[in-house]
Amino acid sequence: MTRKKLMAANWKMHKTPDQAREFVASFLPLISGHHRDEIVLCPSFISIPATIEALQGSRVDTGAQDVCWEQHGAFTGEVSPAMLRAAGCTHVIIGHSERRQFFGETDDSVNRKLRAVLPTGLKPIVCVGEVLEEREAGVTEDVLRRQCSLAFREISAGGAAPIVVAYEPVWAIGTGKTATPELAGEAHRLIRHQAAQAFGEDVANRMRILYGGSVKPGNAALLMSHQDIDGALVGGASLEPKSFAAIVNY
Ligand code: 13P
Repeated sequence: MTRKKLMAANWKMHKTPDQAREFVASFLPLISGHHRDEIVLCPSFISIPATIEALQGSRVDTGAQDVCWEQHGAFTGEVSPAMLRAAGCTHVIIGHSERRQFFGETDDSVNRKLRAVLPTGLKPIVCVGEVLEEREAGVTEDVLRRQCSLAFREISAGGAAPIVVAYEPVWAIGTGKTATPELAGEAHRLIRHQAAQAFGEDVANRMRILYGGSVKPGNAALLMSHQDIDGALVGGASLEPKSFAAIVNY
């Protein structure tokens, strides 16, 4: 089974609209010869329109970093899946560990967001991953099983096809400590097994599972050469056009 890789930039709380435009102007020429992978930039909500406008005519997509589980209503400060679609987004990150850690995201809210997003045609990138204490306590597999099975609850096999999962071990995020391809591969196989239990082998075999956590130009090729790693979700190294282009062109 060959799965088209997805190379995603998570800009987190960086880049104003002007800075997003500047990035795109420098980035596009660096990847002009690239036709292999799906590429997506995920700016903050406020920089989404500028990014989409700057990317027009390119084959690079735009995604959001979070979303509400309702399509409209009295939810101050939130942005709905329908709004992201209307703005021109194609992807959305759900359940990033920073949202779980700092903003009260739970396995249940991840599931609600995923169920709200799937009917709209947005491609969700669902983040899972253990924190350092969980890895050291030997409960990584339990954590991943729980996060996946709760995220996938009440989703039919027919509706699950667009789901992308990103395995981001929290101890590797922003720390310069990258998981080895073998260690990531193990986690990815477990995630695929959970997907097979929820949606069947066929959907699971097609599902892309990305790795995130200190992906850099220097380690991208090795990580991407592993058969169970279907792309990358890149934080810090996606902020500079040259380094993200080097990752995309691994
Ligand atoms: P870093 O690439 O900065 O470790 O961040 C990873 C991440 O959280 C992407 O979502």
